[in-house]
Amino acid sequence: MTKPLLLVLSLACALSAPVQAADTAAYLDPKLPVEARINDLMSRLTLDEKIALVHANGLFRSGGVPRLGIPYLWTDDGPQGVREEVGLNSWNPTGQTDDFATAVPPGSALAATWDPAVTEACGRLIGQEACARGKHVILGPGVNIVRTPLGGRTYDYYGEDPWLAGRLAVGYIRGMQDEGTVACVKHFAVNNQEVERGRIDVDVDERTLREIYLPAFEASVKEGGALAVMGAYNKLWGEHCCQNAFLLNQVLKKEWGFKGGVISDWGGTHDTREAVTKGLDLEMGTWGRGYDDNYLGRAFRDGVKDGTYPMALLDDKVRRDLRMLFATGAVDGRRPGSINTKAHQAVALRAAEEAAVLLKNDGGLLPVDPAHVRTVAVIGQNAVRTFAAGVNSAGVKAFHESTILEGIVTRAHGTMNIVYSEGYRQPTIRRISEHDAAGVRKTEVVEASPAEAKDLSDRAVQAAQSADLVLLVGGLTHQPHNDDEGTDREGIALPSQQSELIGRVLAANPHTVVILVDGSPVAMDPWISHVPAVVQAWYGGSEAGTALAAVLFGDVNPSGKLPVTFPRSIEQTPAFQGGPRAYPGVDGTVHYSEGLLVGYRWYDAKGIEPLFPFGFGLSYTTFAYKNLRVSAAGPAAATVECDVTNTGPRAGAEVVQLYVEPPHLSVPRPPRELKAFARVELAPGETRTVRLELTPRSFAYYAVPVHAWTVEAGDYGIVVGSSSRDIRLRGSCPVASARAD
Ligand code: BGC
Repeated sequence: MTKPLLLVLSLACALSAPVQAADTAAYLDPKLPVEARINDLMSRLTLDEKIALVHANGLFRSGGVPRLGIPYLWTDDGPQGVREEVGLNSWNPTGQTDDFATAVPPGSALAATWDPAVTEACGRLIGQEACARGKHVILGPGVNIVRTPLGGRTYDYYGEDPWLAGRLAVGYIRGMQDEGTVACVKHFAVNNQEVERGRIDVDVDERTLREIYLPAFEASVKEGGALAVMGAYNKLWGEHCCQNAFLLNQVLKKEWGFKGGVISDWGGTHDTREAVTKGLDLEMGTWGRGYDDNYLGRAFRDGVKDGTYPMALLDDKVRRDLRMLFATGAVDGRRPGSINTKAHQAVALRAAEEAAVLLKNDGGLLPVDPAHVRTVAVIGQNAVRTFAAGVNSAGVKAFHESTILEGIVTRAHGTMNIVYSEGYRQPTIRRISEHDAAGVRKTEVVEASPAEAKDLSDRAVQAAQSADLVLLVGGLTHQPHNDDEGTDREGIALPSQQSELIGRVLAANPHTVVILVDGSPVAMDPWISHVPAVVQAWYGGSEAGTALAAVLFGDVNPSGKLPVTFPRSIEQTPAFQGGPRAYPGVDGTVHYSEGLLVGYRWYDAKGIEPLFPFGFGLSYTTFAYKNLRVSAAGPAAATVECDVTNTGPRAGAEVVQLYVEPPHLSVPRPPRELKAFARVELAPGETRTVRLELTPRSFAYYAVPVHAWTVEAGDYGIVVGSSSRDIRLRGSCPVASARAD
C-alpha cells in the first residue's frame, strides 16, 4: 500500500470512528448542567482537537471532534433568513434545490415596526429554519447605529437610536435562541460605513461610544443573552475590532459578563498574537490561507506548545465556543425545525405590514377607494423586482417573494383594471464569481441608454394620463452604491432619473401615490410638496407585495414609524458637517466629530428641520393623548402613564414614544433622547392607558473619568408623543443623583 493511500484510509477511519467515550461520559449526559458537561469534555480534548474548535475548517463551519461525537459548528447568514448554500470552500452558490428559506424584511424595515414582538417572531422563525437547515449559529442581528444615511448597510441595521435598536435586538435574539439556534449579534463595534471597511480606524470619544454605539450590543448580551458576538472589520482606536482588547476583553467579557464566543467577521482576523490575547474566540473567513494556516490554527498550537501562550487562553476560547454548540442541542440531537410553514409566512407578512410607514396622505388619497378607482397605473421597475436574494451576506433564496405588482393585482382581484408600466430601469448588476480583498463579489453594470430611458418615461406618463390612480413604485436595489454591502451610497438622490419621472407623472396625473421600496432615506425634494401621498415600504421580504397591497387598500392600517431621520439633503446630516475627516475619513481614520449628536439628536440640537423626523409615521386614523401621570418609582426611576384614544373611524395602532429631556447639567447632553416606547392597538373610539417604565439608566450619561453610568440630580423633562417632533404631553420628574450600572 502506498503512503498517500494509507493516509487517506486512516483519516477516513478517524472521521467515521464511533465515539470513543463511554456512554456514561458526563459531557454526553443532557441532565447535567452545561458547565459540568463542558468541564468533562475539556478534560478529554487533545491540543489539536482544541485548536480545531477555534478556527474555521470550511467557509461557514469550524472544526468538530469526530472522535468524541462533537459535530462541526455550522454558522450561516443572516439577519433576513437562512442564506442559500455556498461551497464548503467557496462563495459560489451550490445550486441546490433544498436551500430555500423564508425571507423576513431587513433590519431597517423591522426597525420601522417599533415592535419587539415582531422581531422576536422573526428570530423564532429563522431559528426554526436554521434547525431544519442544520445551522447552529445565525449571523445576525446587525445592530450598528446608522451614523450616515450613506452607509451601505443602513438597510441591514435597526436605525439611528440605541434604545430602539436594543429593544428590537433583544426580541430577535430571545426568539431565535429559544428555538435552539444561537444568535450572533454583529458587527461589534462602530461598523458605520462600508468605505474602507476592512481598514478604517474609528476615532470616537469614549462617552459617545458608550452612549450611542454600544448600548444595543450591551442589551443584546445582558438582556437578550446572545451567545455569539461578531467583531467588526474596522478598527477602533487603532486596533482591529476582531482583536481589540478594550472592546472584547474589557467591555464585552469583563464589564458585561459575556460568556459566549466572539466570532471574527469573515476575513477580519489579522495576527495570531493579537487574536489570541485580545479577545477573539473563533476565527472565520480568513482569505487565501489554508485552514491550518489560520491565525488561530497551527501558529496558535505551536505557541501553546512552546509556552508562548498559556493553555488557559486556549481553554477559555474552547469553552466559549462549546457553549454555543451545547446551547443548540447539537451534542444531544437538535430539534428538527421547519421551513416556510404557513406560520412562517404569516410572520413575514405581519413584519412587512407593520413596517410600512405612511409619510404623507393629503386629502385621504389612501386607502384606495374602490368606489372611485377603476383603472390603476402601477409604474416603476421596483414594482416587479424581487430583493431578498440580491443582498450580499444577508441574501436569502426565498421560497417565494411576492412583488408589489403581484400583491396589487391579487388584492384587486379583478375589480379594477391594473396597467403596468416600467417607467425607469435600474442598472442591471451581474455579480461575477471573483471576490475583492474584503470578500465582496465583484460586479458588472449594464444601464439603459438615454433613448431607452426616455421611452420608458414617456410610456409611463401615457399610462398615468389614462388612470384614475397612479401607484408609482421607486427606490433602490441592493446594487453597488445603493443599499449594498461593500459600498456606500454616493448621495441620497433616487437613481435612474426617478425624481424626474415622478415630476412628469405628477403633472400627468395628480392622483399619484409614491411608494418607496428601499432600505435607507432618499431625497424627496422637489416632488414631496406636490405629491399627495407617500408610503415608505422598505424591502419587504417574502411577503412584500401582499403586505403593501393590504396597506394600500386599507385592510391593514399603517403603523410604522421611521427608525432614522429622513433628511432633506445630505448637507443636513451630522456626519456631513465635519467634511471628509468625519466621513468617509482621511488617511485611514474617520473622526466622529458630531459626537453624541447622531440622528435626531443632531437635528434637535442644531434646530434643523429634516424632511421627516425620527419616529414619524401617519395612520388612516387619528390618536389623542391625555392625562400624563409621572410617579416616582425610586430615587432615579419613574413610572409614566398616559391615555391614548383612537379618535378616528378605523382600528389602528400607535407607537407611543417617551423622550427624556435633561435639565441643564454639568455635562452637555442631547436635548431629547428616546427612553421608552410602546405600540398600542386601538379600536375606533377606544382608550387605553399606556404605561412606560424609566430606570436610572434612562436618566444617566456615561461619566468617562469614573467609568460609570451616572445620574445627576435635577428636574428631568418627560415628553410623550407620536414622533420625536410631535410631542403631545409634557411633564417632569425630580431625579436624585445615582449610579446606573
Ligand atoms: C459580513 C458579515 C457576514 C459575513 C459572512 C461579511 O462580509 O460583513 O455580516 O456575516 O461576511 O457572510
